[in-house]
Amino acid sequence: MNDNTFFRSYKLVPEVKRPFLYSSLIAMVATLIRMVGPQLISRGIDNGVLKADYNYLLEQSFYYFITLIALYFVASKALLSIGLVGELYVKRVREKLFRHLSSLDINYFEKNKTGVLVARMTSDMQSLNEFAREGASSIITALLTIFGATIAVFLVDVRLAFLSFLILPLLGIATKIFRNYADKAYWSVREWIGQVLSSLQEGISGVRIIQAYSDETSQLDNFKKVNNEHFKANMQSAKNIAFYFPFLEITRVTSIAIVIWFAAQRINQGTLSVGELVALLFYLNYFFDPLIMLSFNYDLLRSAGSSMKKVFSILDEEPVLSNTGITTPDMENNNVIEFNKVNFSYGRERVLHDVSFSINKGETIAIVGETGAGKSTIAKLILRFYLPNEGDVNFYGEPSKDVTQKWARKNIAYVPQESFLFRGSIKNNLIYSNPEGIDLEKELLEIGVLDWFERYENGLDQEVGERGANISAGERQFIALLRAVLAKREIIVFDEATANLDIESENSILDATDTLLAYQTSIIIAHRLETIINAEKIMVMHNGKLVGFDNHENLLRNNEIYQDLFSAWKLVN
Ligand SMILES: Nc1ncnc2c1ncn2[C@@H]1O[C@H](COP(=O)(O)OP(=O)(O)O)[C@@H](O)[C@H]1O
Ligand SMILES: [Mg+2]
Repeated sequence: MNDNTFFRSYKLVPEVKRPFLYSSLIAMVATLIRMVGPQLISRGIDNGVLKADYNYLLEQSFYYFITLIALYFVASKALLSIGLVGELYVKRVREKLFRHLSSLDINYFEKNKTGVLVARMTSDMQSLNEFAREGASSIITALLTIFGATIAVFLVDVRLAFLSFLILPLLGIATKIFRNYADKAYWSVREWIGQVLSSLQEGISGVRIIQAYSDETSQLDNFKKVNNEHFKANMQSAKNIAFYFPFLEITRVTSIAIVIWFAAQRINQGTLSVGELVALLFYLNYFFDPLIMLSFNYDLLRSAGSSMKKVFSILDEEPVLSNTGITTPDMENNNVIEFNKVNFSYGRERVLHDVSFSINKGETIAIVGETGAGKSTIAKLILRFYLPNEGDVNFYGEPSKDVTQKWARKNIAYVPQESFLFRGSIKNNLIYSNPEGIDLEKELLEIGVLDWFERYENGLDQEVGERGANISAGERQFIALLRAVLAKREIIVFDEATANLDIESENSILDATDTLLAYQTSIIIAHRLETIINAEKIMVMHNGKLVGFDNHENLLRNNEIYQDLFSAWKLVN
């Protein structure tokens, strides 16, 4: 974790600062108590053992026992509170991340794979959790103990302290080398874990295709290769530790040997007591032991650090659309949606060219065109998921860049191509937009679709599995459509929302919602003839250009592209 990430992480969740300082303080007290032990041993040896004063020895042993009990309570309190702070921290980070993600522009989710974002919320949070649970308290305890032991060594005897730490620069160099290699190994382990996982995932989700083309062996070879690289990266990591630990051991023993060598002469001269030597040896162990603990926990620290970096890369992502826009349009205006010379591109390539049209209140407009013609893009601009690059998209006369995100979400309903249901009951999915204010059964009865739900054992209370698992694609789409209609927004956008419906369901919902759609302004991207013919006007898109905007009869008479589309439809209908 570099310093920048460290301080940012510290500042990210201000409410844990105080508990963190508090628990560090307790850990400091624990360290202080730990340092008392060797002093008591030292005195016991000098004044008890060497002078055969067994009462004194017993007394010191008793004190030692007391410090051990005190240490037990204080140290466990410290571990507990550091752990608690860590867990609280991770919880807050997860909340922040979730809130931030839901505020980001749709654009962001189209650029970044869902899987990767989910990994941020799961595997990265898990590495933070591991660090919070095990790493943080070990590292804090280790650092404090090293610090305390250093001071204690100096307090016992300054000259011997200098001598015993003579070897430290060597240790420092070794540690630096270890860290460099460990970092590299660590990165490649992470890297290859990702590769192994995605190769596994591809092998599993693509299993039908793989078997159908009997491609098992080459897939296996591929997986073996990736798996082998992962193995090598892990071995490198093991080698680093194998190099570092013996080195730690050598420095520890060397430093103890130096101390004993010089201490022996000092004891001879009478300037050092045997007890002091023993205390020194204890403190030196207090110095070296935590180093081992630190190198063990280094992985956890690195892992938490890089997870925090990834967390910050998401938090640094600014939502543009939800921050621009200050006005709410006057909805008395009859001109509900207007495109004025709109040009738009997702990346480099322009996908809408000079598109202009306007839609009046209550109109039902169909958009037709080949795949890739730009139909969904128009829908996304109407939803204010994007702003046009050039030209204006106006809502009731207000440019979409000036309109608040909130207004758009409150007044425009949307049924996307891939319908999505939340876990929970059908009922909850239907009243999603307005949980309190809907008398659902009455509304469904009025629309005439209440009996449709009799197909389910539990009717409207039927649970929808994860991603709508126990409900067919068509049924899911039907529910998603109803959800949008029940939201009763001024503007409603269907993007091929009826593709999975059987004709009967589609007719029943469209007939049923006719009355509702009559007062809503509806934009329907459709490919079914009947839906299209019934629309008041039809927009014909071709290669990102609007090439016709009229009713069915007129288009059929004058528009070549529409004629082609129409003859193709007639073949399938
Ligand atoms: N998120 C996106 N990023 C980049 N290009 C996109 C994106 N979505 C659509 N496109 C491109 O924009 C063009 C129009 O797409 P779209 O509006 O989805 O067409 P339609 O809905 O008519 O099939 C296509 O060439 C498509 O490849
Ligand atoms: Mg589309």
